[in-house]
Amino acid sequence: MSEALKVGVAGLGTVGLSVVQLLAKHAGQIERKSGRAVTVTAVSARDRGKDRGFDVSTLEWFSDPVEMAEKANIDIFVELIGGDSGPAEDAVRAALKRGVHVVTANKALLARHGVDLALLAENNNACLNYEAAVAGGIPIVKTLRESMSGNDISRVYGILNGTCNYILTRMEAEGIGFEECLAEAQRLGYAEADPTFDIEGNDTAHKLAILTSLAFGTKIADDDIYVEGITSISTADIQAADELGFRIKLLGIAQRTETGIEQRVHPTMVPKTSAIARIDGVLNAVAVDGDYVGEIVLVGPGAGGNATASSVVADIADIARGDETPVLGMPAGDLKDYQRARMRMHEGGYYIRLSVYDRPGAFAEIARCMGDAGISLESIVQKRHAADEAPAKYDADVPQPVMLITYETTEVAIKQALEAIMSKGVVAEEPQLIRIEKLN
Ligand code: HSE
Repeated sequence: MSEALKVGVAGLGTVGLSVVQLLAKHAGQIERKSGRAVTVTAVSARDRGKDRGFDVSTLEWFSDPVEMAEKANIDIFVELIGGDSGPAEDAVRAALKRGVHVVTANKALLARHGVDLALLAENNNACLNYEAAVAGGIPIVKTLRESMSGNDISRVYGILNGTCNYILTRMEAEGIGFEECLAEAQRLGYAEADPTFDIEGNDTAHKLAILTSLAFGTKIADDDIYVEGITSISTADIQAADELGFRIKLLGIAQRTETGIEQRVHPTMVPKTSAIARIDGVLNAVAVDGDYVGEIVLVGPGAGGNATASSVVADIADIARGDETPVLGMPAGDLKDYQRARMRMHEGGYYIRLSVYDRPGAFAEIARCMGDAGISLESIVQKRHAADEAPAKYDADVPQPVMLITYETTEVAIKQALEAIMSKGVVAEEPQLIRIEKLN
């Protein structure tokens, strides 16, 4: 039996502690399954004296993670610090340079420096594993990197942020306001240190950038993603979606088109009958369309200490087993340049909510602008305000909500139509626009 694999864990927050606990609790089975014992021998965190529920006195202790990466007597450096630069990046680079394998949950770091780090790992015969960086406990990296290598992939999409899904689910189910739901997600430990990363869609974009590279064999292009978060979604939109047969989800979508690859993150109307519509709360789901397998959907917890630790430990076990799968599924030098499909060429259906002055001819004006842009309307609904909000008598200057659903059209046509509608003086506010996605 070979010597135990020595692991150094940098970052002892919720995930770090779960990793240490899991490795101890399931040590026997990990050894049996990977053929090698795995033991934590070094840790790095800010405060050595803090009570973490386990004894650190027998471990090598480093207050500086970079020093641990450079000097600790370890085979694997586990990076759970976070951030796309600073100590996390410096420590990962230092570990790889000395041929120490790296396991990380850091999507921001991978999205920004993934190709470069993959080259560094290859040049130093080290592994760089990052299952926990995308969709927490769901093994989507392994699925794309290994299990689907025989398929030509046309689309990968999913709910990649537990915080946003939790907020949208509770807003819909309980009619609770956005801020209250966000505070609860933070309390439960789902949200990023800076929750704007969650709600503005950046966290989803980081994960999508990694999935796109794995799915299409392209260099990671995290700057080439269209990103819209969920902050503009109101209970009115959620209610309208429900009445129209949809639910609203924040999706990350990467799709091959005739002009290149579309990478987009935005609130999306998904048919209630689709698999993705049924994913509630902090759960994530990732769907992949392969030419031979068809569509597969993986569902599971996308955030939280134990779910994330499950993926981190699986990565460690792969290294213990001697698995040397290339970081991005193929040698980094073989990755193709990413060719971006322009968002203005995106094709799909759209939901539009307008706040329309209740004047004669307003509807006709809106319909004409749509027609002039070549857009065909599938439905148009005017909703009167609820009884307690409605004016005492008819007042043409009090705007009323009007919801439109279009047939398939292009982003450029929609933008042209909305600009024309805004110029007619019939609407009171910026329109709300939510894309509709065709899903199974
Ligand atoms: N803040 C992230 C989420 C955690 O809510 O999904 C996992 O990346």
